Amino acid sequence: MSSRADFPADFAWGTATAAYQVEGAAGEGGRTPSIWDTFACVPGAIADGTTGDVADDHYHRFLEDVDVMAAMGVNSYRFSISWSRLLPNGGDAVNQKGVAFYRALATALLERGIRPYATLYHWDLPQELEDAGGWLVPEAAEAFARYARIAVRELGDLVHDWITLNEPWCSAFLGYASGVHAPGKQVGSAAAHAVHHLLLGHGKAVAAIREVSPDASVGITLNLYSVRPASKRDVDVDAARRIDGLQNRLFLEPVLAGRYPADVLDDLRERSWFESRPAADAETIAAPIDFLGINYYSRHTAFAGDAAVGASASPGSEFVRFVDTGAPRTQMGWEIHPDGLLDVLEQANAYAPDLPLFVTENGSAYADTVAPDGSVDDPERTEYLRLHVDACAEALRRRLPLRGYFCWSLMDNWEWAWGLSRRFGLVHVDYDTQRRTVKTSGRWLREFLAGADRAAA
Ligand code: FCB
Repeated sequence: MSSRADFPADFAWGTATAAYQVEGAAGEGGRTPSIWDTFACVPGAIADGTTGDVADDHYHRFLEDVDVMAAMGVNSYRFSISWSRLLPNGGDAVNQKGVAFYRALATALLERGIRPYATLYHWDLPQELEDAGGWLVPEAAEAFARYARIAVRELGDLVHDWITLNEPWCSAFLGYASGVHAPGKQVGSAAAHAVHHLLLGHGKAVAAIREVSPDASVGITLNLYSVRPASKRDVDVDAARRIDGLQNRLFLEPVLAGRYPADVLDDLRERSWFESRPAADAETIAAPIDFLGINYYSRHTAFAGDAAVGASASPGSEFVRFVDTGAPRTQMGWEIHPDGLLDVLEQANAYAPDLPLFVTENGSAYADTVAPDGSVDDPERTEYLRLHVDACAEALRRRLPLRGYFCWSLMDNWEWAWGLSRRFGLVHVDYDTQRRTVKTSGRWLREFLAGADRAAA
């Protein structure tokens, strides 16, 4: 079992949140709707019919939340900026109330010795930009770079560390292919065009940020999965290649190696579209970054064929399903596999051996219960956290350049299509009263982080 002393003193220990999931105040302070405000109102889109209108009311309670973090002993916090709070309607006019909110948040963090890591895009595209074509058109990339430039100009004296995009895989494929996330479109393999425009936006934003703030540290956060074939059968090996390609390599390669994986473009039957992009795009997307953020939750064991639809397991089959290995799962149904964190860190590291890596999200949902005395005991989440922190210690033993770990999430929040029905927090939130209660997992993290201090005392 690892202890804090196994980690360097400057290792970033933090929790993470995202604007729409915690802020609330959807119609306050000059903020205008994003695609998630719109999508949350579509009947049936959100499991429990809730919206993020109030969520954790963090917009009004951020000082209390920063105090909770300080008491936990973290030295870092990853939050996201709501694009349409900073730039209403996705335009270029700055909303000073939005600036004031994020300045107050960053200031409160710094006063408590907590380093702010700001994500510019955690899925909340201003609705007007979606109406103009969203991520399916290159104009979104331009708009994103303009927003990034303004955000860093307004906040760059307080925030040094910037993450351009969070999980572009989700924005592209859940937003435009399956349609289970905002904006809820189903455009088939053309969803890959959104991948390109998101990554182009990332690259242009990196350049814009460096112009405004040459000392800033800039990265991108990808959601990577540990992927392996269900058997040695060729068809299963090929199924694993496809999933690894779509989930991991389609993002790692353009950002870190300056090219898209040709096999994935072929799988998508989108190679000619990608080849018709301006030649300069590839270089823009591969702009040097200062770190890579990795969100890691689970692993996929790929099996070719889908018995349910009678599809055969032929070579090159598009039908892939994920095998239930019998390993324990969280309430999301996500298999728990801490060693997979090492797989994805090693996969990323192979592209860019010196690039600092951060785990920018890792965590688990469980159906917590509040005891009569008000306490919330969450042994499964505590164990999930402990096992993944151990994997981070192992990553350092393997000399991987891991620089920080952010637990998803600081507190229970509005979990996208699941609404308020899935809880990931180290801190419980009572949505009727907005009362915060640190769970056993949060107390575990506090004790873990205090460990090295105690040893040194
Ligand atoms: C990630 C998201 C984050 C949260 C966790 C559970 O995909 O980035 O906002 O929803 O999953």
